[in-house]
Amino acid sequence: MCGIVGYIGPREAAPILLDGLSKLEYRGYDSAGLAIYNDGVITVERAVGKLVNLYEKTDGGNKLKGTLGIGHTRWATHGKPNEVNAHPHSSENFSLVHNGIIENEAELRRTYLRDVEFASDTDTEVVVRLLEKFTSEGEEMDVAIMHLIDIIEGSYALAIIDRRDPDHMYAVKNKSPLLVGKGEGFNMIGSDAMAMIAHTDTFYEIQDKEFAIVTRDSVELYTSYSKRIDREPYKAELDLSDISKGTYPHYMLKEIEEQPLVIRRIIGEYQNEAGELTVPEEILADVRDCDKIYIIACGTSYHAGIIGKHFFENIAGKPAESCVASEFVYNTPLLTEKPLFIFISQSGETADSRAVLVKIKEMGYKSITLTNVKGSTLSREADHTLLLYAGPEIAVASTKAYTAQIAVLAILAASVKNRIGIDLKYELALIANTIEGLCGDRELYNRLAEEYIAPSRNCFYIGRGVDYYVCLEAALKLKEISYVQTEGFAAGELKHGTIALIEDGTPVVAVITQSNTNLNTRSNVKEVISRGAKVIRISSKSLSTRKDQIVIGDVHEMLSPLVSVVPAQYLAYYTALHRGCDIDKPRNLAKSVTVE
Ligand code: M6R
Repeated sequence: MCGIVGYIGPREAAPILLDGLSKLEYRGYDSAGLAIYNDGVITVERAVGKLVNLYEKTDGGNKLKGTLGIGHTRWATHGKPNEVNAHPHSSENFSLVHNGIIENEAELRRTYLRDVEFASDTDTEVVVRLLEKFTSEGEEMDVAIMHLIDIIEGSYALAIIDRRDPDHMYAVKNKSPLLVGKGEGFNMIGSDAMAMIAHTDTFYEIQDKEFAIVTRDSVELYTSYSKRIDREPYKAELDLSDISKGTYPHYMLKEIEEQPLVIRRIIGEYQNEAGELTVPEEILADVRDCDKIYIIACGTSYHAGIIGKHFFENIAGKPAESCVASEFVYNTPLLTEKPLFIFISQSGETADSRAVLVKIKEMGYKSITLTNVKGSTLSREADHTLLLYAGPEIAVASTKAYTAQIAVLAILAASVKNRIGIDLKYELALIANTIEGLCGDRELYNRLAEEYIAPSRNCFYIGRGVDYYVCLEAALKLKEISYVQTEGFAAGELKHGTIALIEDGTPVVAVITQSNTNLNTRSNVKEVISRGAKVIRISSKSLSTRKDQIVIGDVHEMLSPLVSVVPAQYLAYYTALHRGCDIDKPRNLAKSVTVE
């Protein structure tokens, strides 16, 4: 989940690397570091905490002279987030940065590095020490890299420089994302295109167990058995303005307010020549052919998956189940005869989901990935991809990707079979307008968050049916950025135990958009009020009462999560703001979770 950047070219490397790292900070932000080559010496600077600390320590990179270097932002897996454990890690001749986990590090230490004194607690240091050992025993650099690939188990994206070699930088990859950026007279390495897009829009993909030898003017890709790979670079459709905050104080707020645009973009992208929303026929054939859909995802994407299950069963009449990837992979349920797997992942890089994809591919089953990132691992490795078209999502808390996932799931389900005759194009257009209306009520959410939620240690979201599914996502949003302990609860289930936690002033947010459960949820609201709860009601217009503070325009009830989640996203945002939290980079989290 760490971020990697490397540069070799005519310009000073350190400022370029720092700028690249600033685009990758979402991947991890407990420490950062640079290693810059100059005249036979590699200088390493590292700093604990946010990138700004490294920036200050190196005077924006100006203190480090040299036109070849590597940089890293860390999300700790092995060893505390301190300076000693920060990357780059070095041996006598090499410096390297790493994203991933070396699973057999203990065995590697025992087998090859018994006499080595380690400077850090990291698994990464094992790699640089092994490289030193193999090359000092006479192996050429490419042979030593292949040797590493051969013996290391786990996930790794590595960028490596050698103090004896001013002209080369090396990239090695397995399971963790890594690209080479192709420039004119320079080349780069990066965990994703965003880190390099200010300099180039042309990239080489590196696949698992491949490595790249990069000079100022050339990029050579090799397999783990030394075969040269002839791969064309691709152009990324990324715009620098897509990844800037513009006038917004936080990415999260920008991304919440981009949701109408994203829904409209999805309508455009999924429209066929007749103006109907649909997906490619080969995907439909696979969905129609299966006897059950298993949706695999994590976090927010899992929450979208639960709504996807609801769509497949209620719109298309197809049995479906939504599963947490990290559970599914090691506790796989009894599968039906002809399962089809749908992976949902904003980043397309989530290790837990990928582990399931690898497993079900071995079992011979088909898969579709819904992702926001074209060319991501889950997209490349599945049989089909449906893109989310949400644009880069930078804030760690997912917002627009969630609504994009739900919209694409609805289109997929209705394309398979539209048993309820829903006019999805009209409904999604209406939803885009309705969200736009909600974005005008920032002050209301701000006030409610400040008065009801921000002063509290805990909070509950309650609802029934799809409202409950939204509550799960709303609770995750609130807890991950404001650190208010929050539970999303099926409103009717509260009285079976959890209601014991309601006391004077406990904030409870009720989501009420379903006519068949409106009155039941309102009874549950009364139950918590009589025990002292302070209740915020989010209801749809036709079901609203005078006491409901947040009233959302009526949309098709099945699709209401696309709208009802928006005030919840705002409540999370403003609660975090009032509590002085770091909204875009909440503690302990990373945007892209590339370790299991
Ligand atoms: O990239 P993915 O959608 O696969 O990521 C899955 C989760 O890590 C992610 O949704 C996480 O829960 C979000 N930060 C929540 O806002």
